[in-house]
Amino acid sequence: MELALFSKDIEKLETECLILGYFEDEKLEVTDALANVINSLSKRIKGEYGKIAASVGNEEIEHIVLVGLGKKEELTPKKAKEVIAKAANYARDHGMKEISFLVWKNQDQSEWAYHVVEAVRLSQYHFHEFKSEKKKEKIERCLLIIPAKEIKSIDKKIREALIVTDAVLFVRDLQNKPSNIVTPAYLAEEAKKLAKRLKLKCSILEKEDMIRLNMGGILAVNQGSSKPPKLIVLEYDGGKETICFVGKGITFDAGGISLKPAEDMDEMKFDMSGGAAVLGIIWAASELKLPYRIVGLVPATENLPGGNAYKPGDIIRFHNGKTAEIINTDAEGRVVLADALAFSKKFNPSIVIDFATLTGACVVALGNVKSGLFSDDEVLVEKLKQAGKISGEEVWQLPMDDEYKEYVKSDVADIKNCGPKWAGATTAALFLKEFIPNNVKWAHLDIAGTAWDKKGTVLNPAGGTGVGVRLGIGFLKKWK
Ligand code: BES
Ligand code: MN
Ligand code: ZN
Repeated sequence: MELALFSKDIEKLETECLILGYFEDEKLEVTDALANVINSLSKRIKGEYGKIAASVGNEEIEHIVLVGLGKKEELTPKKAKEVIAKAANYARDHGMKEISFLVWKNQDQSEWAYHVVEAVRLSQYHFHEFKSEKKKEKIERCLLIIPAKEIKSIDKKIREALIVTDAVLFVRDLQNKPSNIVTPAYLAEEAKKLAKRLKLKCSILEKEDMIRLNMGGILAVNQGSSKPPKLIVLEYDGGKETICFVGKGITFDAGGISLKPAEDMDEMKFDMSGGAAVLGIIWAASELKLPYRIVGLVPATENLPGGNAYKPGDIIRFHNGKTAEIINTDAEGRVVLADALAFSKKFNPSIVIDFATLTGACVVALGNVKSGLFSDDEVLVEKLKQAGKISGEEVWQLPMDDEYKEYVKSDVADIKNCGPKWAGATTAALFLKEFIPNNVKWAHLDIAGTAWDKKGTVLNPAGGTGVGVRLGIGFLKKWK
């Protein structure tokens, strides 16, 4: 889809479809030839949030779509994007090939332009790579109508939105591609490609390296797979403070010997969503030139029940010397993350943030609306919450108190990888906590519910959501 700016006199606009958003109780003072149409449409929906009214226009502006934005003080960034996406989808479903957004004067122009670009690009994304009959993008052109005097600041915001959405769509592609294509080696190649294009550092730890570094967790989970594991290290050097992002990179999770039921198992190709999000965050952060040194760590392997697979009852030793008793081989995410989190020490980070499709329990608690947030650091919690609100990728804090540690005590090892079914997202977080280097601020995001959308939403066709990129970038911008 082509994106263009229009900053001339609105009277000169020629377009197939003009989309005009306005607030409740807002007077639309339109005086041009279409004033009558617009005024009568606006009376119909009265600016009510999410309501749409459309009409044919004239020769220059062939169709007009009015969309209600609701009360100004109630329009959150998330709601703004959803309503823009709704209008874009409406136009698309009515056969429009070109849409033009009028950035109405009562809104922060550059903010609004940012929302439009993000909403339109995210909502019009599709994954058709493997369809023999390739479907074209339905909306071919999106025009932003903006005042000439603000073009500079708006242009900057638009550039930002393009960078962030490019990274989100890259993550969605990785999530949607099946696991016979997205293998650990494939993820590693993608990271290397990013490094080459964006001039980042990238190294891949191979199985032999993991043996040398006593990474018993990744190695154990990998035992049931015929494909070698990879630990991706991707580094962007943009400043002094080091922030580490760690992402779960299970390219397929069959559960291992504790095999999952067949129903919906195909979806477990998205169990690398955390890892993909980390690559996406580094992509966007480096293009936005954010002032940090950012290190991404992605432990990647399949979790399969091969003949040599790790088994319930096994005791494994991790990179930091701690041991765990395996109760359930399907609780593999925490097992691979343990080594990667412990390994983060090498980079001397002040902050470690991990993203992982870690537990079904988190999906039970929060559905696909919010990601689970676990952290003992109040500042980190606050900033991540704010970043969630601004980016639209919201989080909800869940407890991680020591009282729950009882649940994962083992008789034979330092900890066990699975407790009773209660507080499953919390016990997973407590397991990870064992591997966080001292004096590091740490937050864990359980994205099991938010990384994948079975049915799809206005901003997202069914499948991968690319969650994490917008939240991570939002956080980095908030941090300092
Ligand atoms: N990848 C899954 C978590 C998951 C489940 C993500 C459903 C998305 C949807 C994870 O590896 C897993 O299997 N977790 C187990 C842990 C349990 C065995 C303690 C779970 O949540 O059932
Ligand atoms: Mn699992
Ligand atoms: Zn998993």
